[in-house]
Amino acid sequence: VTTVIEGRAGFLLYWLDRLEAVSDELIIATRDGSIGEKEGYPKGLVRRLDEGEHLDRVIAIGCTFMMYEMAQTTRPYDIKTIVSLNPIMIDGTGMCGACRVVVDGETKFACVDGPDFDAHKVDWDLLFSRRKAYLGPETDSSER
Ligand code: FES
Repeated sequence: VTTVIEGRAGFLLYWLDRLEAVSDELIIATRDGSIGEKEGYPKGLVRRLDEGEHLDRVIAIGCTFMMYEMAQTTRPYDIKTIVSLNPIMIDGTGMCGACRVVVDGETKFACVDGPDFDAHKVDWDLLFSRRKAYLGPETDSSER
């Protein structure tokens, strides 16, 4: 098990000791380089794959953009990749419809049918367009 954890800065990362205890290798990356590698993932992953490292599976958990990036990174290498779409859920009961997503051409609800899905079968374009549904009111609200 190789665990990669990335954050904007070192002070935002936590439970590194716990992750280290359950991993054969723990890779830490920060955007500001305060701890670990400054090179962010998925760049680091691509470098390792290009150097011949073999991965059976990638499980990506984080913001939707990071999971999308990971899906695009592993796709050319044909590495099974699982994403956890918790971030698109709101009520988590199947009632609000916010977590509706198309996976392999079928409509799914992250809270009922997931939250884990094959990253290469998620319709990311649709997911991102749905995520922008309230962009206007959110922008207005933050300006006020
Ligand atoms: Fe509301 Fe899934 S989170 S329907």
